[in-house]
Amino acid sequence: MYSKEIIERFKNPKNAGSLRGANAVGKVGNAACGDIMKIYLKINEDNIIEDAKFKTFGCCAAIASTDVACDLIRGKSIDEALKVTNKDVFNILGTMPAHKIHCSVLAEETIRDAVEDFYKRKEKENRKNSK
Ligand code: FES
Repeated sequence: MYSKEIIERFKNPKNAGSLRGANAVGKVGNAACGDIMKIYLKINEDNIIEDAKFKTFGCCAAIASTDVACDLIRGKSIDEALKVTNKDVFNILGTMPAHKIHCSVLAEETIRDAVEDFYKRKEKENRKNSK
């Protein structure tokens, strides 16, 4: 059984869509269910996540989880964002069927993938500038 919060976020996600000026993208998929999550981040020079959006091809819990993940990391530093876990996502979403908990885990993994992408891009830029 899904909570009201999941149903509401699934029907009206606040953070759906791509993000103009995004400088990090995280993408994670689950081969078993076929769901794919993408999170776009706009991170400023002080390593603060100014904005976060998502595009998720997946189930109701996956969409609601990525929507919550964007809320949880917006305005946070990268280090703080990395501390966000699926438990934080789950605590906001409330009840979900046990076999759907992996959807919230996927959201956590997508945040980490986006941060990794940010550092890769930064490293590439630094190498380019040092030539
Ligand atoms: Fe796999 Fe939701 S069923 S992410």
